[in-house]
Amino acid sequence: MGVVYIVMGVSGVGKTTIGKLLATELGVPFFDADDYHPESNKNKMASGIPLQDADRWPWLKLLSQNITEWSNDGAVLACSALKESYREILEAGGDVKFVFLEGSQEDIANRLAARKDHFFDPTLLQSQFDTLEKPKNAIVVNAKNKPEVIVREVMSKENTKSELGLIGLGVMGKSLARNFATKGIKMSLYNRHVAGKEEKVASKFVDQYKELEDSNGYDDLEAFVNSLAIPRKIFIMVNAGPAIDAVIRSLVPHLSEGDVLMDGGNSHYKNTQDRFELLKDKGIHFLGVGVSGGEKGALEGPSIMPGGSKEGYELVGAYLERIAARDKNKDACCTRLGDGGSGHFVKMIHNGIEYAEMQLIAEVYDVLKTNLQLDNSTISNYFKDWNQGALESYLLEISGHILTKKEGDVFLIDVILDKAKQKGTGGWSTTAALEIGTSLDTISQAVMTRIVSGYKEERTRAEEMYTLSRKHTTLLSIETIKKAYKVARIINHCIGMEALRKASQEYNWDLNLSEITRIWTNGCIIRSRFMETLGAILTTSSDSLFLSNDIRIAIQAGLDDLISFQAETLKSGMATPVFSAATNYILAFTRGESSANMIQAQRDYFGAHTYERKDKTGSFHTNWED
Ligand code: 6PG
Repeated sequence: MGVVYIVMGVSGVGKTTIGKLLATELGVPFFDADDYHPESNKNKMASGIPLQDADRWPWLKLLSQNITEWSNDGAVLACSALKESYREILEAGGDVKFVFLEGSQEDIANRLAARKDHFFDPTLLQSQFDTLEKPKNAIVVNAKNKPEVIVREVMSKENTKSELGLIGLGVMGKSLARNFATKGIKMSLYNRHVAGKEEKVASKFVDQYKELEDSNGYDDLEAFVNSLAIPRKIFIMVNAGPAIDAVIRSLVPHLSEGDVLMDGGNSHYKNTQDRFELLKDKGIHFLGVGVSGGEKGALEGPSIMPGGSKEGYELVGAYLERIAARDKNKDACCTRLGDGGSGHFVKMIHNGIEYAEMQLIAEVYDVLKTNLQLDNSTISNYFKDWNQGALESYLLEISGHILTKKEGDVFLIDVILDKAKQKGTGGWSTTAALEIGTSLDTISQAVMTRIVSGYKEERTRAEEMYTLSRKHTTLLSIETIKKAYKVARIINHCIGMEALRKASQEYNWDLNLSEITRIWTNGCIIRSRFMETLGAILTTSSDSLFLSNDIRIAIQAGLDDLISFQAETLKSGMATPVFSAATNYILAFTRGESSANMIQAQRDYFGAHTYERKDKTGSFHTNWED
């Protein structure tokens, strides 16, 4: 869609000259509203009879219809448009911007007196000025200047609007703002004003970085919104939860239909779905945008998972793709995933996989340190060695670095408290999995393990109370541990992808799982070499990944090692809960016969819930005590 610039002002102010020049500058056609007057109006004007509003309505309506057509590619129209009511009719036609040529009555009278062969009677000028209602939202330029100067002024004023707005200058908001600006996108940045705490945050931030020299900082929301080009595109980077709703509530009165709002935080996908519906009713496009990569990723190229309005993505997708990380083919790690809350659902499962991946590394570290009694540097070297080829991942890479970080003579890892926090996304994925009936063993176990880590005081007391034969030695070889880790990772990823497959069916999102793994190959916290392998498998298979032959071969290659790892760590008194979850999941999943016949019988025994049989179809109930 293009914009129709309406060059307006009283007769004789220079609308045609300026309009034609502006059209040339913009590369769009020029139209003169006078050419659309019916003959009766032209005759009246030529005879010096002022036009009445009744004369103007059909003419304005005709122009409005034409504006609808001209809006396709953009145009410039010269039209006096003196009254607000006239402008409203023109505006109804399409995306219109007024350029108001402002001049004094004396200057214009002099100019008109010098004109020949024009049907306008200079004596009508007074009535034109009497009629003129100055526009409120126009690009205002001084008609006295030379035409070239006026056009340059219009162009520069037009370009002062920012392409993108961003609200919330926390760590992630700041990094994203700098990333957008580095890609040449003019930004308007807003941060709330909290007396004594958050004052002039946005303008101070803008002054701090060279890449933000074309951007502007605001703590006045209305001024921020008015600084944005239409349709407005606003990225919200405030804490997930009620703060997002508060920002949306305060923004909406200043927005127009067709504007786009994006929530780039870790919002719950159901909240995103509700916000999507609410804003859809108001004609505002809403996208829930998962952003992964932490502070550095946001600055240098995150993985971006947008879901929500399709029309909205058409307006903002190019901006998001410009700041995203690149995959191995240099394509952006950003793609619209589906409707409603799909983007935040995918980000939530990303985080779930992240929780379990982190815990698997923590368990390997524990076994290498406690059972094999290796020091930090040796473990770090193993991690660095493994972090090549198929096992390469960002989380393994940073874990290798973590183990060498020292404060003076002390390894930092040794003084960090063994109590992990969480912000909620792992737990949400567990709840979501229960709701859609998909098993999320490794991920939910990682969530529970973080919870148990929080029982530090009780754990310490319990250690003294319980006598356990912790041998703290193991027969495990490094090679077995490595292979067990490799298989547990595969199982964890397949479990996460299976949750996405089920959610896509449940919510009709039509998620492209292969595309999801592609945008997870770079930028995000769970980026890894294995993501590429998964992507290739997912392009040909829509079934459960566990039933893919490639996955079967990969799991089978290390399954005995995984089982040995599990058995040996348990025997030596170590808890390796996410390895256990992975082992038990794969052992249960690959067994045609399970023990659930006993569960069915128990349910029927105490609750008459009925059971199904192997030898007959239907539901059966037995009087068990007869
Ligand atoms: C990312 C991360 C990020 C998340 C942190 C902390 O993809 O960049 O997932 O979004 O906020 O990892 O999460 P927890 O506090 O729940 O561990």
